[in-house]
Amino acid sequence: MKEDRLLQKLPDGTLDFEHFDKFVHEMRPIQVSVSAAARRFAHRLRRRLMRARRELYSLRAFVPGLREQHRLEVMVGPLGYWNQLRRYHLRLLCANGLRPGHTLLDIGCGPLQGGITFIRYLNRGGYTGIDIDPVRVDTARSQIAQHKLAGKEPRVFVSSSFGDDELEDSTFDYVWASQVLP
Ligand SMILES: C[S@@+](CC[C@H](N)C(=O)[O-])C[C@H]1O[C@@H](n2cnc3c(N)ncnc32)[C@H](O)[C@@H]1O
Repeated sequence: MKEDRLLQKLPDGTLDFEHFDKFVHEMRPIQVSVSAAARRFAHRLRRRLMRARRELYSLRAFVPGLREQHRLEVMVGPLGYWNQLRRYHLRLLCANGLRPGHTLLDIGCGPLQGGITFIRYLNRGGYTGIDIDPVRVDTARSQIAQHKLAGKEPRVFVSSSFGDDELEDSTFDYVWASQVLP
């Protein structure tokens, strides 16, 4: 767009800002629709790339060395974000004041995506995880063994009452529930 269309001169030689304002005002809807189209395109592209990424990650189910990690991630979802989510969970809790000396109840702990990092970070006996699904609790226990964290004495068990029946009068400094609602 030529500048002389934006800022025209009046007969007395001064610049016509009224014309300029009108021009900018008329341009705005065009700018908005262009950027809305660009945003829609970027959004569609991002969704396609994410689907491609998920499909790529699903191939791990057929690779012997990666099958178990795939099984864990399927239990939690979304695929391919295991380590990022792990770091994010711990960072979020620490940013909200969690320190190694605290105790944490992890409701819906699943196969310990976040749990393993919490157990590592907390002092001995600091971590308790509960889950409604016995298969996930079994997997959580194997994860503790696999990561050689039994010495931290984490407690992990099945509960369908948010721990009410099993934890009796235990109290916790932090109660955490991530991605538990369907
Ligand atoms: C998507 S996974 C999330 C696991 C873990 N919190 C994480 O963020 O990595 C959701 C978990 O919540 C559990 N869950 C769902 N409803 C529950 C309930 N009422 N009590 C305990 N666990 C529950 C599921 O069995 C599942 O393991």
